[in-house]
Amino acid sequence: MSGFLSLQGVRKEFNGVVAVESFNLEVEPGEFVSFLGPSGCGKTTTLRMVAGFEPPTSGTIRLAGEDVTYTKPNERNIGMVFQSYALFPNMTVAENIAFGLRVRKEEGAARSERVAELLDLIHLPDKAKAYPNELSGGQQQRVALARALAIRPQLLLLDEPLSALDAKIRDDLRAEIRRIQRQLNITTIYVTHDQEEALALSDRVVVMSKGRMEQVGEPFEIYNNPATGFVASFVGQLNRLPVTVVDPALGRLRAGRSEIRTTSLIESPEGAEVSLMMRPEEVTLDAEEDNVLEGTVESVTFLGSIVRVQVAVDGGRLTADLFNERLLELPVAGDATQVSFPSHACWVLA
Ligand SMILES: Nc1ncnc2c1ncn2[C@@H]1O[C@H](COP(=O)(O)OP(=O)(O)O)[C@@H](O)[C@H]1O
Ligand SMILES: [Mg+2]
Repeated sequence: MSGFLSLQGVRKEFNGVVAVESFNLEVEPGEFVSFLGPSGCGKTTTLRMVAGFEPPTSGTIRLAGEDVTYTKPNERNIGMVFQSYALFPNMTVAENIAFGLRVRKEEGAARSERVAELLDLIHLPDKAKAYPNELSGGQQQRVALARALAIRPQLLLLDEPLSALDAKIRDDLRAEIRRIQRQLNITTIYVTHDQEEALALSDRVVVMSKGRMEQVGEPFEIYNNPATGFVASFVGQLNRLPVTVVDPALGRLRAGRSEIRTTSLIESPEGAEVSLMMRPEEVTLDAEEDNVLEGTVESVTFLGSIVRVQVAVDGGRLTADLFNERLLELPVAGDATQVSFPSHACWVLA
């Protein structure tokens, strides 16, 4: 089976140094897929190969069933948006949006109609005659999106389009991008190093590290069942407690003098020193769950909707994320406390 966009064994070397190795991905029509990973992991290089700016060292790229591996960028029907707005400063908003249509020699009336349609789509109907420097960063990025969409591309590629914007504008535009993508049902690849962005926007996320695909899956799956230690720690906050395996078959572990149980598979033998992983939101400051540890509060950080509490426990430290509420009594550093977490919420990494 091959998808609407298909990458098979796609690899890229620069002067013998591997930037992307063996990338395999099938993207369905209308799907929104993110490439997520730290700087330098090969996201942009992969996107540029899809766009045609960079030929792969080996492998095949297909779009709508056609082999486009070595097709020139302007012969692939692809729209692209970059981090920097890259609008033409000497052209109005309308002229910017019309640019691709003009290159394709679309006639005047059809062009104006399309530009008006796109200005409505991005909610900037009254900015047609404005110049880019008269717009905010967020508005400029909307225009860049409209310009990319004007030619009715088969595929939309976005490379960190929100990175240069302020937090509030970033959140608004993130929602806008998703709305527009759904409305047009356009197949989209979105590159980001921001895990929250990838989780919030995507149908599926490809987590990348050092040129390799670490895991491909739906956001819920990636976050709750990370396939590797890298994915677990890159996507979201994570606790890592050193423990000793007591009985792998029964899921029994020990942290210092405390007994711990997990329902997930333990592949290491009895006596092995391993890490026990769990999300901070699974940890509570009481003895409610089946794994209970005695501890001392080390620090309390008020983050608004959550309160992050670090607790020293036998053999290590656990972070608990508590939901804020107005009647919450904040713990204080030095307090003796219990922490607990359910046996189904923790897993072992060798
Ligand atoms: N034109 C190039 N020449 C040489 N090396 C490059 C070139 N483009 C990217 N690289 C290298 O490839 C790797 C991946 O880069 P890139 O795809 O830009 O990562 P990301 O977008 O994930 O930050 C990096 O090590 C980078 O230095
Ligand atoms: Mg990049």
